[in-house]
Amino acid sequence: MKTAVITGAGGAMGSELVKALEKEDVTCILIERERDLLGELVHMLDGNKHFFYKADFTNQKDIQNIISNIISKHQKIDYLFNVAGIGIYKKLEDLTLSEWRASMDINVNSIFLFSKGLLPLLKNSKNAMVLSFGSGMGIYPKENRVAYCASKFALRGLSLTLSREFKGRGVDFVLLTLGSVMTDFGTGGLIYRKKLETNGKKYLNVEEVISKVIEIIKLSSRKEEYTLFPEGYEEETK
Ligand SMILES: NC(=O)c1ccc[n+]([C@@H]2O[C@H](COP(=O)([O-])OP(=O)(O)OC[C@H]3O[C@@H](n4cnc5c(N)ncnc54)[C@H](OP(=O)(O)O)[C@@H]3O)[C@@H](O)[C@H]2O)c1
Repeated sequence: MKTAVITGAGGAMGSELVKALEKEDVTCILIERERDLLGELVHMLDGNKHFFYKADFTNQKDIQNIISNIISKHQKIDYLFNVAGIGIYKKLEDLTLSEWRASMDINVNSIFLFSKGLLPLLKNSKNAMVLSFGSGMGIYPKENRVAYCASKFALRGLSLTLSREFKGRGVDFVLLTLGSVMTDFGTGGLIYRKKLETNGKKYLNVEEVISKVIEIIKLSSRKEEYTLFPEGYEEETK
């Protein structure tokens, strides 16, 4: 039986991932900040098989408590999915230090803490994987998004470096680098995205992203990075 930790488990992509993992008979340890996770997912999932935690990743103690709890209850983790993230799209003049710090805490530091803290359990799996949700904004700089771009660039460095550090050691670090996905993520949210879509901008849909994740977990040999961009994404970002 495989066990997965999923951060951002109540979000658009996190919740779809949990449903897909449930279908694959994976035990899920769901971590969410505040969205009503105890709604749909809790009704859907067997509470005797899956585990639910609440944490705000801007609070390091919250993360450390969850890690200690997981270590006390589980011997082995097969997958760590770092899905949680925030997108504060602001120019430097308007960006506050606390928004900058939150971007780093959620998009980078939480991934460092979970990867390091759960490493002993990941090492107990035969084919473990730490998959993080990266962004094209971690490859292509974009004006007025300094906190998001800097954090996703840092995440890319973290994931690709650990991928090499752990090569052949039973823990695959994988970065899933995504272009725009039709979710409520980031400043402006779904309404803004729907408007851009009517003007011709292309988006990935959540289902195709999650199918890719499920495809990756089934591979016996994994690459350090997988990229999914909607049509025209790279041209737009240049
Ligand atoms: N959508 C896109 O276009 C796109 C493109 C490239 C990459 N990505 C990446 O994909 C991931 C998932 O995005 P999504 O589109 O599914 O967006 P989403 O629905 O907004 O999901 C984000 C998740 O992160 C959680 N989160 C936010 N702040 C947190 C905090 N302080 N502590 C703990 N958890 C926190 C959210 O919890 P709450 O529900 O409680 O806020 C939510 O579960 C993100 O890492 C994002 O950077 C998205």
